[in-house]
Amino acid sequence: MTAKLWGGRFTKKAESWVDAFGASIGFDKELVKEDIQGSVAHIKMLGKCGIVPQADVEKIISGLGIILEKAEKGQLDYNVQNEDIHLNIEKFLIDEIGEVGGKLHTGRSRNDQVATDMHLYLRNQVKEMMESIKHLQEAILEQGKQHVETIIPGYTHLQRAQPISFAHHLMTYFWMLERDYERFHDSLKRINISPLGAGALAGTTFPIDREYTAELLGFDSIYENSMDAVSDRDFIVEFLSNSSMVMMHLSRFCEELILWSSQEFQFVEIDDAFATGSSIMPQKKNPDMAELIRGKTGRVYGNLFSLLTVLKGLPLAYNKDMQEDKEGMFDTVHTVKGSLQIFAGMIETMKVLGANMEKATNEDFSNATELADYLATKGMPFRAAHEVVGKLVLHCIQNKKFLLDLTMEEFKEASSLFEDNIYQVLEPKTVVARRNSAGGTGFEQVKVALTKAEMLISRK
Ligand code: ARG
Repeated sequence: MTAKLWGGRFTKKAESWVDAFGASIGFDKELVKEDIQGSVAHIKMLGKCGIVPQADVEKIISGLGIILEKAEKGQLDYNVQNEDIHLNIEKFLIDEIGEVGGKLHTGRSRNDQVATDMHLYLRNQVKEMMESIKHLQEAILEQGKQHVETIIPGYTHLQRAQPISFAHHLMTYFWMLERDYERFHDSLKRINISPLGAGALAGTTFPIDREYTAELLGFDSIYENSMDAVSDRDFIVEFLSNSSMVMMHLSRFCEELILWSSQEFQFVEIDDAFATGSSIMPQKKNPDMAELIRGKTGRVYGNLFSLLTVLKGLPLAYNKDMQEDKEGMFDTVHTVKGSLQIFAGMIETMKVLGANMEKATNEDFSNATELADYLATKGMPFRAAHEVVGKLVLHCIQNKKFLLDLTMEEFKEASSLFEDNIYQVLEPKTVVARRNSAGGTGFEQVKVALTKAEMLISRK
């Protein structure tokens, strides 16, 4: 059994099964690079401030370099008895360069150390997340550009409502993702702050320079309050919340892809690469990846609620409960990154069955609003027009017709305001084209939106 780095005041030997329960090395080894990066900055600062002699600083930096190299090659043999990534690295360092390695922890605590690691880690991950969002936005934009004039039924209450451009439908997700991107971007302000130098909770007696370590680590500022620095996990909660939002968006999109690829809709075909077959039913092609992303959304929400709950009753400052912030955060990082990547692939390769979409718009009443608007434009109060068209729809249903099947006599019977051009007005393509109000589905508007979106993407 290895001796504990904090073992001085203990009289009994640790029980290995208790060690195993308390250890976080099984998961926080994911912080290895950030931990070493933080330590290098800390020891440089100790040297600069004359707290540790320069010769020792150099030994420690070169020792940390060797450990980093081993970490990159996967050669570090972590030990549960050394509890977490911080103590494991310190132990490796002392094994590597001798007792002088023990100077690294001067003026520092694991409490500010772990917080620093998490800030560094999330800063990297959020940037990667933003890249993945951008990539998915590009995939949506590309499909959108191909389908400005592809007409699809638009739904409310999952009932056919009004026909729309398929590009307009797709681009809805582009704008959701744009907000997700902005939220992650905005969160960097609160992530990129240095807790290093806060010590256990109260600061330190050593004449350290927190601004210097912050600068070395690329942080924009330092926490104003040492207790806040070690107790704050808001930035992780915010990350989990932003991740939940992006997953909620993906999940809604998944639901549509699943519906659209069903036999009942047949609006899109998901590429074979993103679907699976059935072990018993030879005809099946299941949209597994979309279902899985929809399912994983639950996990990400769970991680958010788990951390909120962990934190809710904690007194200041550090409590071991906070070690529970990690697994959910790592899991969320991998889940969201994976989901965004798969999603982009799914969108890039999906086949849009435009003819089926268009056929659907010819076999419904989603042009009924157009008819009411027509009468209203000719001076009939909209309420009255609504009533006239409602009756016409009922007449059609009773006679197994759609609005475009009605004869001129039938139209005239409903209202003398109808004229021959009504057939043109009712064509789904016309219906869509004429919705030219700002942000609407009219083709001109959709093209404007695509251009704006393209500009936004090119500036990222
Ligand atoms: N493994 C710990 C965590 O993740 C590191 C901080 C431990 N600090 C302490 N005083 N026990 O929270």
